Amino acid sequence: MALGFANTSYREYQPQTIYNTITLISKQNPFKMSPGAISPTAANEVERKYHSTKAAYSLPNDNIEHHRLESQAECLRVNQGGTDFFAPLDKEIVRKTIDIGCGTGFLTHAMASEFPAAQIYGVDLSPVPELRPKLPNIEYVIENIATLTDPPNPDDRFKPASFDYVFSRLLIMGLTDWKGHLQRCVSMVKPGGWVEFHDLENVVHRVPDDVTTPTLLAPHDLTLAQVKSKSHPADQYLNDPAWNVTFQKLLRRKGLDPLIGWRLPQMFADAGLVDIKVRRYMYPWGVWEGMTDAEKQFAELGRGVISQMLPSALAKLQQGIGKAEEEGEVKSAIEDLHAQARSWERGRLFIWLYVVYGRKPAE
Ligand SMILES: C[S@@+](CC[C@H](N)C(=O)[O-])C[C@H]1O[C@@H](n2cnc3c(N)ncnc32)[C@H](O)[C@@H]1O
Repeated sequence: MALGFANTSYREYQPQTIYNTITLISKQNPFKMSPGAISPTAANEVERKYHSTKAAYSLPNDNIEHHRLESQAECLRVNQGGTDFFAPLDKEIVRKTIDIGCGTGFLTHAMASEFPAAQIYGVDLSPVPELRPKLPNIEYVIENIATLTDPPNPDDRFKPASFDYVFSRLLIMGLTDWKGHLQRCVSMVKPGGWVEFHDLENVVHRVPDDVTTPTLLAPHDLTLAQVKSKSHPADQYLNDPAWNVTFQKLLRRKGLDPLIGWRLPQMFADAGLVDIKVRRYMYPWGVWEGMTDAEKQFAELGRGVISQMLPSALAKLQQGIGKAEEEGEVKSAIEDLHAQARSWERGRLFIWLYVVYGRKPAE
């Protein structure tokens, strides 16, 4: 039985591997995760490689991005107390699962190890790099998820009501029709099966100087009403910088939703899913007193991960807009970002990652 929220305890997981991972990443990665460092080449989208499909996804798919995704996945695993998946799945029953937008296959591999008797599909727009041996129960399919399921040529492997578990993480930069995506996932899952999404709310918060870390870094389990009203004390710490306001504007311009993590719980309810659970994790960008060593490592790595992603994302999203005043706005947003990143180490900044799962009612 995979664990639900109630059985997982933050801070019990003492990662032995994170330090090695960081060393590995910084050795392999040309962009060192040093404080406040933003690579000048990472800011230049011309030197990056992207998928060649018509999908909205705006992040690169090159070697640099693969390392960023692997680092991020390690960060998130540490932050989530060593747990990647939360829906209360029964290993004896699960026979077919999918990881949509599987990236480097980090989670597809974890899923395939956790459910060795199941057929696991990893779907992505771009080929999955061979960073680890492919387990025999994994099949990667390189395609837009919508093309695989929707008319005119739905693929037999992704038939309605054929999956026990449908999972996706961090599609915030990729999907323009979240309602359609969720409907597709609900259609794919069997009655009684589970849908689980993890995604960000791209709004920057700052921990006040007098607030101690342990309480704040602990995950919050929220009701739908609490999510909607933003009534948790930590919701008071909103501190969105100007560059992020520009970033949000560009995301919306592309039809992407910067607040999607926050919207997911209500969308799950509207889609008819039941037994919905919501947990919110802090994704910190700065080190501050009271953090454990593992948390400090995470925050430092997280800051590197974010600072690699943002300049290229801003530059890429701005392509094709063509209005001089907006070009100026993006240019100053990137400058602002570079200037602010220098103080992120002590900046006490974070964004929220929402983990949401729900069950399709049995017929
Ligand atoms: C930010 S990465 C996250 C990767 C992985 N889920 C993780 O958490 O490490 C998003 C991935 O989703 C993929 N993606 C975006 N839109 C997609 C779509 N419509 N169909 C399939 N994959 C998509 C991208 O190619 C990218 O690899």
